[in-house]
Amino acid sequence: MRTLLFFFAIIGCLLSINTIAASNERFQLASKCPPSFELTNAGVCRLVNRYQFYDSVQGRGVGGTQTSLPEHRDGFSPAQIDLGRYLFFDPALSKDGSVSCASCHQPDKGFSDDLDRSIGITGEKVARSAPTLWNVAFLDKFFWDARANTLEQQAAGPLFDPMEMGNSPEQLLSTLADNKHYPRMFAQAFPDSSEIKLEDIYLALTAFQTSLISLNSRYDQYAHGYHEALTEKEQQGHNIFRSFVARCSECHQPPLFTNNQVAVIGVAEAEGVPFDIGAEKTFEAKKLRGGFKVPTLRNIVKTAPYMHAGNFTKLRDSVEFYNKGRGHAVPKNEKLQLHWHIWEPELTEEELDLIVEFLGALTDESLTPAIPKTVPSGLAPIDEKYQASQQKNNNNNQNQTSE
Ligand code: HEC
Ligand code: HEC
Repeated sequence: MRTLLFFFAIIGCLLSINTIAASNERFQLASKCPPSFELTNAGVCRLVNRYQFYDSVQGRGVGGTQTSLPEHRDGFSPAQIDLGRYLFFDPALSKDGSVSCASCHQPDKGFSDDLDRSIGITGEKVARSAPTLWNVAFLDKFFWDARANTLEQQAAGPLFDPMEMGNSPEQLLSTLADNKHYPRMFAQAFPDSSEIKLEDIYLALTAFQTSLISLNSRYDQYAHGYHEALTEKEQQGHNIFRSFVARCSECHQPPLFTNNQVAVIGVAEAEGVPFDIGAEKTFEAKKLRGGFKVPTLRNIVKTAPYMHAGNFTKLRDSVEFYNKGRGHAVPKNEKLQLHWHIWEPELTEEELDLIVEFLGALTDESLTPAIPKTVPSGLAPIDEKYQASQQKNNNNNQNQTSE
C-alpha cells in the first residue's frame, strides 16, 4: 500500500512538473512570418504577391485584371503579428471579459459576424454591421464612415466604445500588466518598451490584421492568366460586373474590389432605425450625407448580412439593389447626392444571377490564421458564446455521423 502511495506521489510530482513546463512553454511567440510573407534581414515580414509585379491602375482602365495593388501596411515582426493574434482572440480586452475582437470578426464568418448589426458587451445591437477584415492592410480609411485613418487609430474605437468592448485605457493596461504571460510576450514583441503601452497594443493588433491577405481566389488565378479557373457563367458574370452598363467595378475596383472611396448610393436603414448620415459627419460635408466606404467584395459569400445597415440577408438582394432604380430606397424626407454611377442599368434577372455567380469566385480563405487553443487570460478564445455554439455544432455533426 505504502509503495503504491509513493508511486502515485511520484506520478503526481511528474505531472505537476510537466504542467509547469507546459505553462512556461505556452504562448511562445512565432519566429516565422505567416505564409505569403517573407522575413527580411531586418527581421520583419514583407508581403510577397503577384499583383506587385503589375502596373498601377492608371492607364489600364478600370476593371482591368492585371492591375497593381495600392500601397499597403507590412513590415511587422513575427512576434508582433503573433502577439496581435493572441490579443485579437482574447476576451480579456473587454471590460467584463465577455467579448473579444473576434466575437464580431469571426474567422469562420469572413471575419465578420452573421448579425445585421453586431452585439457588444451590453447585449444590445450597435449602430452598424461588422465589416470583414480581409485585406485591411490595403485600406487607408476605416469604419463605414471613414472616420479613422489608420488601423491603430481604429483599434481604440471598439476597445473603449461602451457598446462594444466597453473598456478604459487604465483597466486594459492593468489587466495586461497583471497577466501571467502578457508582460513577457510584450517584452519579446517590443524589446524597446519597458512596460506595456497602449500604442504597442494597437500596433500588435494592426500587425495581426494586416496579415489577413486574401488574394488567391479562383478569380485571382483567372486574373493571372489561368482562364479555366472561372466557369463559363462566372466569366459572363465578371464581364457584366465590369461592363459600363452595370458599373460595379467603377467602385468595387479590382484587385481589391474596392476603390477605397466613400460613395453615396442610398441604401435604406433597417426598419425602425433612424437615418444614418454616415460620412457627412466625418468630413462635415453635406454632399456625403448617407455616404459610406465602398466595401471590398472579397469573401463576400461569407459575410452576410450586407451593407452598413445589415439590411440584406441575401447576396442576390444586395446586387438587385442597384437595379431597382436610382434612389429607390432613400427616405422621402432626405435629399441625397447620389453618386453618378448609381443609375438604372436595367439588368435582366439572368444577368443579376450571373453577377452573384461571379462574386462566389472571390472566395479565398487559404491564409486564415489559427485560432489559439487557449489565450493568456485563460478565458474562452473568441468568447464563451462562440465556444458553446462550436460545441453544439460538433455534437450535431457527431449525431449526423452516427445516424
Ligand atoms: C461588438 C462588436 C465588435 C467588436 C468587439 C469589435 N468590432 Fe471591429 N467593427 C465592428 C463594427 C460594427 C464595425 C463598423 C463600425 C462602424 O463603421 O461604425 C467594425 C469595424 C472594424 C474595422 C474597420 C474595417 C473597415 O473596413 O473599415 C476594423 C479594422 C475592426 N473593426 C477591427 C476590430 C478590432 C481590432 C477589434 C478589437 C480591438 C474589434 N474590431 C472589435 C464590430 C466590432
Ligand atoms: C458608386 C459606387 C458603387 C457602385 C457603382 C457599386 N457599388 Fe456596391 N457598394 C458601394 C457602397 C458605398 C456600398 C456600401 C453601402 C452601404 O453600406 O450603405 C456597397 C455595397 C455593396 C455590397 C455589400 C457589401 C457588404 O460587405 O456589405 C455588394 C454585394 C455590392 N455593393 C455589390 C455591387 C454590385 C454587384 C454592383 C454593380 C451592379 C455595385 N455594387 C456597384 C458602392 C458602389
